[in-house]
Amino acid sequence: SYAPVPAKDDFFGCLVKEIPARLLYAKSSPAFPTVLAQTIRNSRWSSPQNVKPLYIITPTNASHIQSAVVCGRRHSIRLRVRSGGHDYEGLSYRSEKPETFAVVDLNKMRAVSVDGYARTAWVDSGAQLGELYYAIAKNSLVLAFPAGVCPSIGVGGNFAGGGFGMLLRKYGIAAENVIDVKVVDPNGKLLDKSSMSADHFWAVRGGGGESFGIVVSWQVKLLPVPPTVTVFKIPKTVHQGAVDLINKWQLVAPALPADLIIRIIAMGDTATFEAMYLGTCKTLTPLMSSKFPELGMNPSHCNEMPWIKTIPFIHLGKQATLVDLLNRNNSFKPFAEYKSDYVYQPVPKPVWEQIFYGWLVKPGAGMMIMDPYGATISATPEAATPFPHRKGVLFNIQYVSYWFAEADGAAALQWSKDMYKFMEPYVSKNPRQAYANYRDIDLGRNEVVNDISTYSSGKVWGEKYFKGNFQRLAITKGKVDPKDYFRNEQSIPPLVGKY
Ligand code: FDA
Repeated sequence: SYAPVPAKDDFFGCLVKEIPARLLYAKSSPAFPTVLAQTIRNSRWSSPQNVKPLYIITPTNASHIQSAVVCGRRHSIRLRVRSGGHDYEGLSYRSEKPETFAVVDLNKMRAVSVDGYARTAWVDSGAQLGELYYAIAKNSLVLAFPAGVCPSIGVGGNFAGGGFGMLLRKYGIAAENVIDVKVVDPNGKLLDKSSMSADHFWAVRGGGGESFGIVVSWQVKLLPVPPTVTVFKIPKTVHQGAVDLINKWQLVAPALPADLIIRIIAMGDTATFEAMYLGTCKTLTPLMSSKFPELGMNPSHCNEMPWIKTIPFIHLGKQATLVDLLNRNNSFKPFAEYKSDYVYQPVPKPVWEQIFYGWLVKPGAGMMIMDPYGATISATPEAATPFPHRKGVLFNIQYVSYWFAEADGAAALQWSKDMYKFMEPYVSKNPRQAYANYRDIDLGRNEVVNDISTYSSGKVWGEKYFKGNFQRLAITKGKVDPKDYFRNEQSIPPLVGKY
């Protein structure tokens, strides 16, 4: 019933029958560049040489999304979906190769409704994480949700690819705390948990964005936190023992009680130990003295506050307020490159020395953000969700490079590549694992043969993000979207027939 009629004008004609024209932006419309740029977070993808969509559709309800899919299938126009636009490679709104596509931008669909009594919430994909956190706190200061750290991340992409932040040791990832979804499938049908297959429901919660339909909204479990939690940030330079401290941290941090997370941001000659503890300074201080006395943490480092205030505090610093959680006009839009790794064996101390005395102080050097695992995130079985980075992981590394003038990109990109190569012997192998939400196109791109992304090309990057879960994702894709309608350079390819 989807006979290919490649006619862009017919696509638009189809859309306007079902969707108010004020919600549609053609490339020729004067507002198009502003609407496109609105949530581009990585300036590398703003430049004119990027392949842009033909149309942007900004639905205000699920039926508009269904119409966009039906019109897209009928007129052979692919859709890419954008929630918060934080995709590291910009794949929610640009294509690497020349391609005719439209963007479904969920910017206008961002309702959050909290049921404090049932301890659940429904949140639309277009909400940013800060809006979800804010709505929870309006209802209760002792409920929380474990998703990403940065408040402007979109719910849609973050939950679709996993989603973790400072509650990861206590409550795992966002996706494993999703209890229902509303999804528009490749036939334009609106499904929920009761009307979709168990595999489809499994796949949308961590199998990465785009592949399994457009998730309209998510129902999540809200989880208890105490009224007072404690945060500290302790920077240590190499002269203050950063190397010895990080060497000890990698053994201590993954074994701490679930109520405590101490992550590290390593930049230049300094490692900053950032912690959140689900309890008061009074109980945290003796815990730190017994488990990690070398850090020298004492009550003067404590910042006690309700959980909700930790979000702007950790991300933006002491001066931040709750209103910052709702700010959708974040002007921090650097040029950026990211990579990630998982570590199972402690990194030898001489290697940490090379990192701090060599790598982090080179020209073009970026930073390393290290999140310890253990406790809940590591206790969940690998196949429970598509996110496979579980038992035995000591910590996750994210390599982040920012630059602010296009010309500075060469040094930063070179550093990122060289650093990643240097780390190879000390991180996970076969596959070298990476976090799907830290999308890295260097890990591989799908090849398209006979208009279908191939399983063999997808396996190359797919097993790094999903390990043994990749095949189940591909089989599920084969059932849900055998024609590969929803696709991008790193979408799950359909595996149909023999496997
Ligand atoms: P975007 O809208 O760009 O979508 C990302 C991908 O998901 C695209 O492929 C898109 O097509 C697809 N998608 C989006 N909405 C969808 C929907 N409704 N249905 C189906 N597919 C959909 N991650 C983390 O776990 N913890 C963290 O602390 C951070 N921190 C962080 C900071 C900053 C500054 C950035 C830029 C990114 C992060 N991330 C992160 C990574 C982040 O989780 C990741 O980029 C998410 O995919 C972003 O989701 P958005 O909706 O914003 O992106």
